[in-house]
Amino acid sequence: MSDANLHMRAVDLRRDLDAVADLIDTCFSTTLDKDGRDYVRYIRRMANYARFLGQNERMPDRYAVPLNGWVWEQDGRIVGNLTLIPHRKQGKHVMLIANVAVLPEYRRKGIGRALTEQGIASARVQGFDEVWLQVRDDNPAAEHLYRQLGFVERSRRTTWLAEPGKALSHLQVPDVRVTNRRNEDWLPQQEWLETTYPADVAWNLGFDAERLKPGLVPTIKAILGDLPFRSWSARWEHRLLGVASWEPSTSPTDPVWLAAPPESEDAAIRALLPEVVYALRRRRKPLTVNYPAGRAVEAFQATGWRWHNTLIWMEIRLHPETGSSILA
Ligand SMILES: CC(C)(COP(=O)(O)OP(=O)(O)OC[C@H]1O[C@@H](n2cnc3c(N)ncnc32)[C@H](O)[C@@H]1OP(=O)(O)O)[C@@H](O)C(=O)NCCC(=O)NCCS
Repeated sequence: MSDANLHMRAVDLRRDLDAVADLIDTCFSTTLDKDGRDYVRYIRRMANYARFLGQNERMPDRYAVPLNGWVWEQDGRIVGNLTLIPHRKQGKHVMLIANVAVLPEYRRKGIGRALTEQGIASARVQGFDEVWLQVRDDNPAAEHLYRQLGFVERSRRTTWLAEPGKALSHLQVPDVRVTNRRNEDWLPQQEWLETTYPADVAWNLGFDAERLKPGLVPTIKAILGDLPFRSWSARWEHRLLGVASWEPSTSPTDPVWLAAPPESEDAAIRALLPEVVYALRRRRKPLTVNYPAGRAVEAFQATGWRWHNTLIWMEIRLHPETGSSILA
């Protein structure tokens, strides 16, 4: 405890950001993807900006992505970090813990545990309802730490990736026909989406089924030249097997949302994904599907989609009895 008092303090945006970026670079060097590298670059830009600010000046709004959290300082340098990102989830205030990292030479001394305990305590005093984090399923050390602290697994999700030119753009599935989605497909699609992207998962993916709804707004957007989402349906004879919707985004990859019942998801994925890849070939941007881990693995592989990662989503409930928050 005295150790923690001596070494742990809140992140100071004006002086810590370069060291935090270095730490994330070092500790996640083998797993950092394009999103992660962009994030580290962003922290470095913020660090540059923060250096020019006076003591009482606020960061401008465009740099206001939250970078709160805690660092562990020892031997004159920052050797551990934990980031806290507040979110809203179905009317609740939830705190996401990210970037838990300790330099290799300082590991197994209790620093990771102390930082995570501090993250949970901060969320608790600020009145957050839940604390969430994600850990790769091939990171048993971190998973063990979080379980010891009381985090409970809520879901396991795999991200599948289609890189331009690598995923298949043609795959005939006998008797299955793929067309643009019909309006009447929306009701079953909506129902299937709710099971593939349940509320406990949707908030963190930024998924909102309402955006995929057919109607006037997407049609007007298309007429105005905006990039609207696009959806395709797979049918066997007259039976709907599944629906895929693509949503353009400003991230390095665009998400594709898959909706299919378990009995036809294999055929639906084999028929739909090559069609999506073909239809979007000129965009030349990687596509991702976030899907329950372990499901339809062969179908993704058969269509040339690559496994990117599998994340365990874990949670601690802080105020389960009230379900409400004291935050304004
Ligand atoms: C995960 C990480 C932050 C742990 O930091 P740390 O300071 O070494 O952790 P602690 O010393 O506080 O260990 C706490 C518990 O974590 C678990 N743990 C940590 N390292 C472990 C290892 N190599 N193998 C198995 N369990 C391990 C143990 O349960 C340990 O408790 P114990 O020592 O009583 O057995 C650190 O290994 C790290 O920075 N890894 C790379 C980045 C990373 O993967 N971050 C997690 C992202 S979700």
